[in-house]
Amino acid sequence: MTQRKTRVAVVFGGRSSEHEVSCQSAKSVLPHLDPDRFEVVPVGITPQGQWALGMDPNALEAGAGNLPTLRNRTDVVAIEPGQALKDVDVVFPLLHGAWGEDGTIQGLLELGGLPYVGPGVFASAAAMDKIFAKKILQAEGLPVGRFVALDRAATTLTLDEREHLGLPVFVKPSRAGSSVGISKISDWADLDAAIFEARQHDPKVIIEAAVPNVREIECAVLEFPDGHVEASLPAELRPVAEGVEWYDFNAKYVDDSYEADIPAKLDDDITAKLREMAVTAFRALDCQGLSRVDFFLTEDDELIINELNTMPGFTPISMYPKAWEATGIDFGTLLTTLIETAIARGAGLR
Ligand SMILES: Nc1ncnc2c1ncn2[C@@H]1O[C@H](COP(=O)(O)OP(=O)(O)O)[C@@H](O)[C@H]1O
Ligand SMILES: [Mg+2]
Repeated sequence: MTQRKTRVAVVFGGRSSEHEVSCQSAKSVLPHLDPDRFEVVPVGITPQGQWALGMDPNALEAGAGNLPTLRNRTDVVAIEPGQALKDVDVVFPLLHGAWGEDGTIQGLLELGGLPYVGPGVFASAAAMDKIFAKKILQAEGLPVGRFVALDRAATTLTLDEREHLGLPVFVKPSRAGSSVGISKISDWADLDAAIFEARQHDPKVIIEAAVPNVREIECAVLEFPDGHVEASLPAELRPVAEGVEWYDFNAKYVDDSYEADIPAKLDDDITAKLREMAVTAFRALDCQGLSRVDFFLTEDDELIINELNTMPGFTPISMYPKAWEATGIDFGTLLTTLIETAIARGAGLR
């Protein structure tokens, strides 16, 4: 007798500014899911929030940045989420950013009693919100950079806050990703415009002191079906083009201004410390399943945690799968592990 395959809904697209990145993630995940074990149900969410079956991520038109998109589809037959997820065993919410990576779809799946890949409602929401994530990491004694949370009502920084931060600063939407809405400014005269830009994406804004000559190191954390958690070898993102200042949207997905060292070239003691800190941060935010923990390494070899991504990119160039590959877990095995961990965890409070 052959066992029925596990039916996995891969939910992709979504309403956030990272819609296209999510479509690209789905495009690279689908062919790597073990066809002997899994029956895949692709579930697309349009930028307008319509759910639809029958959208093949590998047959999507290219949109912004030459990434696949559901943006201009006129053939979408919208259905209810419950209908789209009917009869599935487990859900892979491959959504990045708001309305996906932030606890919202996780809440829907909890209500429906469906197991899903990745952290639960609280961890997803906390990690998505750079302000809350930093507060929790700080409370756990983990190092974060200097920052000011700009209240929804506040329009600018006070003189004291400016002094505390110093220039340059990064002005960011608290809940976004893929570098959208972020500005680096070196003159306070540009602050209001930068806040305005960040608020196009989120009324909550965070302003951070820029770390000079920063090295950017990312570490992939994975939970196994038996509950143990491991950190991958760290990977470094290094600017290689002239005049590149930071890892913006173009550097991430469009041009070749950054290269990756996988694994990162670091002293063994820093590597060990970083991997341990990644797991501590994962637990501090009550993550489950997976997270990519992004660090800054300062000129003085100090580690700072920049952020956690609870549903990091899964594109062919994405660091999460690449870091695991370098640590000895290939893409297919990684996806199987994520799904099996989700099933082992099951639904409900845990
Ligand atoms: N405090 C900082 N100091 C130096 N560089 C920073 C700082 N904050 C952000 N950056 C740069 O901006 C990029 C995007 O910021 P990040 O907080 O990771 O936002 P996102 O969630 O969009 O990835 C980082 O990868 C880094 O290149
Ligand atoms: Mg980032």
